[in-house]
Amino acid sequence: MQPPRSTPSSSYPSSERSLQPNPPHPLHHLPGSHPHPLHHPPHHVPPHARRRPTLRSQIARWLGRNWARLSYAYQVEPLWLEINHHDIVIADLPPAFDGYRIAHLSDLHVGRQLPQRYLEEAIEATLALAPDLIALTGDFIHKGYRHVAQAAQAVGRLRAPDGLFAVLGNHDFSVRNALGYRRYAGLHLAVAEALSHQGVVVLRNRTHWLQRGDARLPLCGLDDLWSRECDPVRTFAGVPAEHPRIVLAHNPQTIHLLQDHRWDLLLSGHTHGGQIDWPGLGRITLGKKARQLAAGLYSHQGAWVYVNKGVGFGFRFRFGVRPEIALLTLRRTARPSATPATPPGEPAT
Ligand SMILES: [Fe+2]
Repeated sequence: MQPPRSTPSSSYPSSERSLQPNPPHPLHHLPGSHPHPLHHPPHHVPPHARRRPTLRSQIARWLGRNWARLSYAYQVEPLWLEINHHDIVIADLPPAFDGYRIAHLSDLHVGRQLPQRYLEEAIEATLALAPDLIALTGDFIHKGYRHVAQAAQAVGRLRAPDGLFAVLGNHDFSVRNALGYRRYAGLHLAVAEALSHQGVVVLRNRTHWLQRGDARLPLCGLDDLWSRECDPVRTFAGVPAEHPRIVLAHNPQTIHLLQDHRWDLLLSGHTHGGQIDWPGLGRITLGKKARQLAAGLYSHQGAWVYVNKGVGFGFRFRFGVRPEIALLTLRRTARPSATPATPPGEPAT
């Protein structure tokens, strides 16, 4: 049997093997000799003798690392749903609503890229939470009329004792920016009608009063900010000025239209959390203003804003921003597990 001819130093990569200051002992090369592994232990290599990685190896490492990240961001994370639980303390909350549970979904973006199986998994995960109410904050479809029925049918499988409530997002209005130009003038009407047909209550600048015995809590739904049909005055008409209320609005920046009104919790989406939170770069797809309300729970002037990262995606790529379903539990007072208050504009999660 051929004796092993390797020396301890030969276990190094070839580029480093040449760095060994002491060549293998001549005895190691004699036929039949067996090198002792302790003759040239690695720590005999002085640190100063180690060569820096070459540019080529650095590039190879960078490419390898980022190729792995890109594959993960396309294959894994866009379909890796997470459930986020939050307790939310609301002053003056009617006692009957203490512990009330709202499942919050946003930005399904049903379209060509969203796998039907993943959509069904999201529906099943929501049903498993058994919430009192399900809130859907817009962007049911990604683009055009083609997937309206598919989105409505998926949502129509949801069930909750107090019902399903929705507001429309900018994609439902086919509006891509704050200028308000609509590519399909009647798309939002088709989305609203399809949802209504499936038993979803679409709140277009109006309020639905939730009932628990004699206690009532208004659930107020606003049209999308960019649609230019967002009307808080009309929405809050009939709600006493000091009565606590829950607001649904697709775009979290809607809070700037609500300065003359009381609101306690606003559920929103729209940002998708930027979909990318790249190491060292952050949420590169969001502008400065959007980053202030990017994802999660924020406190704002004594009220709460929840920015849902969304179930679907605008483009199939997520990194560090997993899709989510939120389960929000309303509380009259803080409990040990409740989310602590944070300074205005600071994320509470
Ligand atoms: Fe969206």
